[in-house]
Amino acid sequence: MSDEERIVDSKSNSEDQEMELSLRPQYLSQYIGQDKVKSEMKVYIKAALQRDEALDHVLLYGPPGLGKTTLAFVIANEMHVHLKSTSGPAIEKAGDLVALLSELDPGDVLFIDEIHRLAKPVEEVLYSAMEDYYIDIVVGEGQTTHAVHVPLPPFTLIGATTRAGQLSAPLRDRFGIIEHMQYYEEEDLEKIIQRSSEVFKTKIDPEASIELARRSRGTPRIANRLLKRVRDFAEVKGEESISLATTQHALTQLEVDDEGLDQTDRKILRVMIEGYNGGPVGIKTISANIGEDTDTIEEVYEPYLLQKGFITRTQRGRTVTQKAYLQLGLKPKDNN
Ligand SMILES: Nc1ncnc2c1ncn2[C@@H]1O[C@H](COP(=O)(O)OP(=O)(O)OP(=O)(O)O)[C@@H](O)[C@H]1O
Ligand SMILES: [Mg+2]
Repeated sequence: MSDEERIVDSKSNSEDQEMELSLRPQYLSQYIGQDKVKSEMKVYIKAALQRDEALDHVLLYGPPGLGKTTLAFVIANEMHVHLKSTSGPAIEKAGDLVALLSELDPGDVLFIDEIHRLAKPVEEVLYSAMEDYYIDIVVGEGQTTHAVHVPLPPFTLIGATTRAGQLSAPLRDRFGIIEHMQYYEEEDLEKIIQRSSEVFKTKIDPEASIELARRSRGTPRIANRLLKRVRDFAEVKGEESISLATTQHALTQLEVDDEGLDQTDRKILRVMIEGYNGGPVGIKTISANIGEDTDTIEEVYEPYLLQKGFITRTQRGRTVTQKAYLQLGLKPKDNN
């Protein structure tokens, strides 16, 4: 990870990808948290298995790093089928999609990450594939052009996106199962940290894992990444088990505060308070002030700041709350 990268960036980098392979739970019983999603999926999976049918198409949406990709693989395992993985931008032409689909065995899963970034012509081919398991493709050139009707095996499309709002209605409507992934409870993150430290063969004191869980933005990917960094500090100190003191010291060094906010989060709040008297401020204004694109703000920072009650969203823009002033050590506005 380079120095400019944020330690609490919930998007994955190459170091994460390596680590995540080893940390990924394989079955629902190992998948921690997301209880509502899990209990619903259990029912749908069981019913599909009983009927010996492909599982209905599943859309998983929510902020980065919450376990959408992980869950897609878990679902395929639970269904005892293969999973073929691709992403929206990787499917350039309708023909690419046809090739992917024709490789599937009955009941298999096609996983499309970043499904909101599918090209329109590809998306249109997907409609009939999802609905009735066929595709019509046009082959040949000039006078020999003709349509070919290609039947497909029954399959399950699992789509993942951080931006459900950017999905077209016709595509969204073709998913029988739509699951919203939530930020994790601290207790669940604690369990994830415990499990990961076992995989890493490191010991961590219970108070230290509580602290880490509290400061991980409700996000397993961040919890795992912080755990690795904190472990480095503990090893250098010669600790046998990661202590609370080392955890606090490391997180301070990494500029992750007691609520899991990092420099950019605090910059956003500070700009809103100091530049715009607490708001309302439009997203573009915030973006221009902190030099971060609006998509990233909406996808990564804002959901957590909203969830934690540091900002609220109104028609006219975002407004900071009293809690935000206090977090930055500032005196709240009187009329706030
Ligand atoms: N429920 C969970 N239990 C245990 N570990 C989890 C869980 N969910 C996620 N993780 C861990 O967090 C990592 C990141 O999860 P994953 O890659 O599935 O997130 P994602 O939602 O697909 O993110 P993105 O939007 O960036 O694609 C996983 O490799 C895994 O180590
Ligand atoms: Mg993913």
